[in-house]
Amino acid sequence: MKKVLITEFMEQDSVDTIAKKFEVTYNPSLSENNEELASQIGFFDAIIVRNKTQLNESLLVATNKLRFIGRLGVGLDNIDTNYCENNNIVVQPATGMNAHSVAEYVINCSLSLLKNIPLAHQGTVSGKWPRTTIKSRELQGKTMGLLGFGVIGKKVSILAQAFGSRIVAYDPYILQSDADEYSVSLVTQSELFECSDIISIHLPLTDETKNLLDYSSFCEMKNKPIIINSSRGSIVNQKDLIKAYKDSLISGFALDVYESEPVKEKFFSKISNTMNCILTPHTSGVTVESNVRVSQFIAEKVIHFLSANN
Ligand SMILES: NC(=O)c1ccc[n+]([C@@H]2O[C@H](COP(=O)([O-])OP(=O)(O)OC[C@H]3O[C@@H](n4cnc5c(N)ncnc54)[C@H](O)[C@@H]3O)[C@@H](O)[C@H]2O)c1
Repeated sequence: MKKVLITEFMEQDSVDTIAKKFEVTYNPSLSENNEELASQIGFFDAIIVRNKTQLNESLLVATNKLRFIGRLGVGLDNIDTNYCENNNIVVQPATGMNAHSVAEYVINCSLSLLKNIPLAHQGTVSGKWPRTTIKSRELQGKTMGLLGFGVIGKKVSILAQAFGSRIVAYDPYILQSDADEYSVSLVTQSELFECSDIISIHLPLTDETKNLLDYSSFCEMKNKPIIINSSRGSIVNQKDLIKAYKDSLISGFALDVYESEPVKEKFFSKISNTMNCILTPHTSGVTVESNVRVSQFIAEKVIHFLSANN
């Protein structure tokens, strides 16, 4: 019987579905024990991971049966995809399954930061009653700039348009017809920086996108926008982001992802409760509903793959 190893949290119903067909080892703490993982991985035909399990070459060379990696999420930074491609191992992300959760997160942060909710909350609980000092703005009529117009960017555009926002996007790799279908204007990166009130990032981390937002990009922004990063931390230079906020080049920021995770004290010690910002621990795509969708999707894919490759 084919064997499947699951090294991080997966919905129990989906684990049970796989176990009806194949032998399953479900050990959600294995991602934290590299030595044990290295000693076990050679026995399995398929492995299912989230983003903590580091499937790098030194671990993958210890596999001789492995033919399928299921990723309970989208980013593949923790998997050596080149090695997999060269060694006939299929890598299957849960494309689109948590996109709606991320899109709702972006709308939530846009509304909260336009309305200065972090400052209103802090002022209220500290007894200052900042009723006249805190300015609140509407999402309606604002321009939202999307860096990257893939699965999540498209979902964000639909939700933001329902609030009456205009959407511009920078993505040189999509077709004009794609943008037209969503009533979104494609612009250059500089045009996006210049005209946006909110900038939300939906890019993969590549050599091209690393450090894409640095101090010089913040200087190009004309409307003191709100910056939202729910894609990958290293796309934004964190030090420059804080400086840009302190220099009033931007009016707020939301970060769900960081240059290194868990986020280091060196960074969060620079954040104070007088800043209009929201920091979350890489959870924008993780909701009760998306967990079910992601797990079911990967369960179906692994069953289909192992059944077809008997
Ligand atoms: N925080 C979370 O919980 C969470 C959850 C899901 C996805 N993500 C991350 O969100 C990001 C977007 O995910 P997605 O599913 O929309 O990906 P996607 O592949 O569907 O879309 C990415 C888009 O970026 C474009 N792109 C690539 N390089 C570019 C560049 N240099 N300049 C402009 N555009 C470029 C591509 O053409 C593509 O359309 C990924 O980094 C993913 O890992 C995070």
